[in-house]
Amino acid sequence: MSDYRPTPDLLQGRVILITGAGDGIGRVAAKTCAEYGATVILLGRTQRKLERVYDEIEQAGHPQAVIQPLDLEKAGVADYVQLAAAMEQQFGRLDGLLHNAAILGTLTPLGLYDIDLWHKVMQVNLHAPFLLTRACLGLLRRSTDASVIFTSDAVGRQGRAYWGAYGVSKSALEGMMQILADETESDGRIRVNSINPGTVRTALRARAYPAENPNQLLTPEAVMDKYLYLLGPDSRNVTGRAFNAQEA
Ligand SMILES: NC(=O)c1ccc[n+]([C@@H]2O[C@H](COP(=O)([O-])OP(=O)(O)OC[C@H]3O[C@@H](n4cnc5c(N)ncnc54)[C@H](OP(=O)(O)O)[C@@H]3O)[C@@H](O)[C@H]2O)c1
Repeated sequence: MSDYRPTPDLLQGRVILITGAGDGIGRVAAKTCAEYGATVILLGRTQRKLERVYDEIEQAGHPQAVIQPLDLEKAGVADYVQLAAAMEQQFGRLDGLLHNAAILGTLTPLGLYDIDLWHKVMQVNLHAPFLLTRACLGLLRRSTDASVIFTSDAVGRQGRAYWGAYGVSKSALEGMMQILADETESDGRIRVNSINPGTVRTALRARAYPAENPNQLLTPEAVMDKYLYLLGPDSRNVTGRAFNAQEA
């Protein structure tokens, strides 16, 4: 994969929804998808951050993005149905769905984990991707070549002490990815995979490792190849697999 060379028009004409598009990896994924020709729906909770990404995409001359403010902690079923209806009206289909938004919660032993925080982390990291996927399935089926990506983590592939709700939510996302991939494999129109970005210089990483020197970490820009591969036509029929963005 390290020698993957996306063509400049890789995502031309595709409509891709990215959650957590206002910051960190999601922000760079949104800008990168737009650079490769996609119309990107920027979903996130902080309007001003989404507007900044929107402006950056516009100033670069890429396809105009769409801003979709939504707090995944608070959103209910009706919000997702409404969002899907709006996308249906504007685009009639969805070609890519990158579940990227997540919160860390705290690094705490399970026996001491705050119950309210547990629910909050599960809501944002696990239930929201389920609800959003469920609402978007009809739109994804209208694409000839749709890609759903769940963002995982090393601690979602192998449980690790103190990662609590975050670690459990990421393990569960791997399970959801496998179930959905199995359910959609036979019709060949939707592929479903997970990606672990690896260690990347973002606010979430800084919260987990406050003593670390961020300048020694890869930037989000440096890990985009596999995202592009999975969102573009080169990964057609690749489904049910767990990818690492920093592995060849
Ligand atoms: N960075 C790493 O080293 C690393 C390693 C492994 C996996 N990951 C995964 O990669 C993904 C991106 O992480 P990141 O490091 O880029 O994190 P980040 O910099 O903290 O960005 C997370 C994004 O999610 C959004 N978000 C959080 N809660 C939300 C909510 N309730 N509703 C809507 N949006 C919400 C944030 O919005 P606001 O900016 O408005 O808060 C932000 O845009 C996550 O799934 C994370 O688990 C990251």
